[in-house]
Amino acid sequence: MRIRILGSAAGGGLPQWNCRCDNCEAARSGDSDVRPRTQSSVAVSSDGAAWFLLNVSADVRAQLAACSELWPPAGNLRGTCIAGCILTDAEIDHTSGLLQLREGCRFGIFSTPVVRRWLTQYLPIGPILASFADRPWTDLPLDESFELPLPGGALSGLRLRAFDLGLDTPRFVPENVAEGVGGRIGLEIESAVDGGKLVYAPGVSEINERLRTAAERANCLLIDGTFWSDDEPQRMGISKSTAREMGHIPVSGCDGSLAWLSGLSVPHRVYVHINNTNPMLRSSGPEQQQVDGSGVRVGRDGDEFETCVR
Ligand code: MLT
Ligand code: MN
Ligand code: ZN
Repeated sequence: MRIRILGSAAGGGLPQWNCRCDNCEAARSGDSDVRPRTQSSVAVSSDGAAWFLLNVSADVRAQLAACSELWPPAGNLRGTCIAGCILTDAEIDHTSGLLQLREGCRFGIFSTPVVRRWLTQYLPIGPILASFADRPWTDLPLDESFELPLPGGALSGLRLRAFDLGLDTPRFVPENVAEGVGGRIGLEIESAVDGGKLVYAPGVSEINERLRTAAERANCLLIDGTFWSDDEPQRMGISKSTAREMGHIPVSGCDGSLAWLSGLSVPHRVYVHINNTNPMLRSSGPEQQQVDGSGVRVGRDGDEFETCVR
């Protein structure tokens, strides 16, 4: 299975349009210590020909342009190697790119029923897209293995299992948070071809049992690296809430994600969905050294991983 990080930043990207934090300033000035990053998305394929996008950011156009394997296949005037888009939540940074991919071709969208409902009722990407292109929408069950089909119905060689990552409702959804079961999921994707397993969880508020179990059997784990510390959003003046209150477990600290990741034997452990204020984005800084020293990688746009266990 091939895995490519299309975008490693959280919503806003790096630099973010309205931000003059140290990281955004460095990225804007071309300082190689802080590389620019586009917004959160991953591509995965069992054969290198048909690719599934895991979340679709507003930067998808540039992300596809940057990778020749994701260009239209040769031989036809119009076409795409995108076989489908799988959503882990309904957040704007993970879904608005679907509107950029509206000029025809047929591929499916996969999400939980509640995410589909939110993207019909409150951020009506589903109904809007339906006027432009054929985007059959499939409801994902939780905790059940599901063979991902190609647009024509043949099997893709990828098996998907969605697992719940706790209640988290996007800001634009005016509903009680208790209504949001399935509102934020992790994905476990297994290749029928080589047996490799990817776990993708770009939004994690706590490390629950489901995530633990999935991560322990993965070859590649792409996980929420939004904030370095719990008080970072407040200290940087971007929110009154803490990282945890915003639904993101911080990287550092004895109950942070890094302490857990450092004890896992997963070959590729990689942070994605990294907010532009996160100090671990600076290559020469002590935070990135601490991450590296724990055997974990601060993900970058264009990073590629291959899982092959047989
Ligand atoms: C998140 O990751 O928490 C959301 O994307 C936040 C947002 O876009 O407002
Ligand atoms: Mn986000
Ligand atoms: Zn910034």
